[in-house]
Amino acid sequence: MISPKKYAKAAKMIPKGFKTPNEFFNYVYNDEDMIWMGQNTNHLHDENGIMNAMMGSIRKRNYCKYPPPEGFPELKELVLEDLGLNDGRFDILITAGGTESLYLCANDILEPENNTITSDPGYLIIDNFASRFGDHVKSVPIYNQECGYKLTPDLVRENMDDNTKLVILIDPLNPLGSCYTKEELKEFADIAEDNDIYLLHDITYRDFARDHHLMANYAPEHTITIYSFSKIYGMAGMRIGGIIGIPEVINSIRSIVINDLGTNVVAQHGAIAALKTKPEWLDRIRNTTRGNQKIIKEAVDQVEGAFIPVYPSDGNMMAIDLYDAGIKPMDVANYLLDRKIFTREGSYTSKLFGHRYLRVSYSIPTEQVEYFGEEFLKAIDAIKSK
Ligand SMILES: Cc1ncc(COP(=O)(O)O)c(C=O)c1O
Repeated sequence: MISPKKYAKAAKMIPKGFKTPNEFFNYVYNDEDMIWMGQNTNHLHDENGIMNAMMGSIRKRNYCKYPPPEGFPELKELVLEDLGLNDGRFDILITAGGTESLYLCANDILEPENNTITSDPGYLIIDNFASRFGDHVKSVPIYNQECGYKLTPDLVRENMDDNTKLVILIDPLNPLGSCYTKEELKEFADIAEDNDIYLLHDITYRDFARDHHLMANYAPEHTITIYSFSKIYGMAGMRIGGIIGIPEVINSIRSIVINDLGTNVVAQHGAIAALKTKPEWLDRIRNTTRGNQKIIKEAVDQVEGAFIPVYPSDGNMMAIDLYDAGIKPMDVANYLLDRKIFTREGSYTSKLFGHRYLRVSYSIPTEQVEYFGEEFLKAIDAIKSK
């Protein structure tokens, strides 16, 4: 007899009419008219160098071969260069996405007696991975104005003990879009050095932020940086990312790799092109994404009791708090799904506050966000009048 493991898990609520999360995701994925505001993905790239590089790779039938197991050296170098970490202090492995990087980090750093500090709201698969390898996860409530809707150095100090080994800093934070200042990162660096702990700096949404800093610059020996091609590069379905640290850490991770035969070659060719062409499209995608936030804010401001906890968001997603408006996020998500808009209710990213908010992402064409604004207001009216 085998039974499911009891690790910390996101409460993935299944929208009405679907038996399993997989059935639901398959439904939204296959509906070509669905407006994609539920996964913080980016739908603003045109047919560009990224697509051409991937098509070219397929035409050459590169996919018949296994790639070098750690990633093409050109790609490794380009990622380090993108972060300005190419001064010889850091090493990198290319992975099948930030998700694999998160798993490797938890596996590498945590011993069975260790605990991990995360935040609630946060990206709950990290809690799951950390609970597989360590003793337990302390998920610190951060959904309040006093802490700026983020895990602060003070909160980390309050929640640490002798067995704390890993602190998770998602920056900008999924789902709220809060981001760290240089001063905060310096304080985290002091905490890490004084207590000999590791900081996981998940920078999946870095390029959407107005001002972003790298933990690796302040605590190089104590930082593991998680990199993803899913968001700003618009390559979520290609499943590619990286993990960066000092050579000692990356060498240790080499002993626990999962993808021993390397990461998808087509994705790697796309990623190389993405980094090389970044200056051509970055501003356009950022500006559209930021402008789209305003449209959502205008709609939310019309609903009494509703508010956006972090505005502007430094990510390509935000939470819309509906609690004081007397509206259940799941009811809005269901209403919008019927109008072909895919959003996520809060329970996907919070155990404590999930009943309060709906999460929406907006790296999508502006006319789709305008449609969302109209339908969101109709949803509120319809739910209220029930
Ligand atoms: C904070 C955070 N880290 C990592 C990931 C996963 O990234 P990837 O698609 O590269 O596995 C996500 C995806 O939404 C995320 O929100």
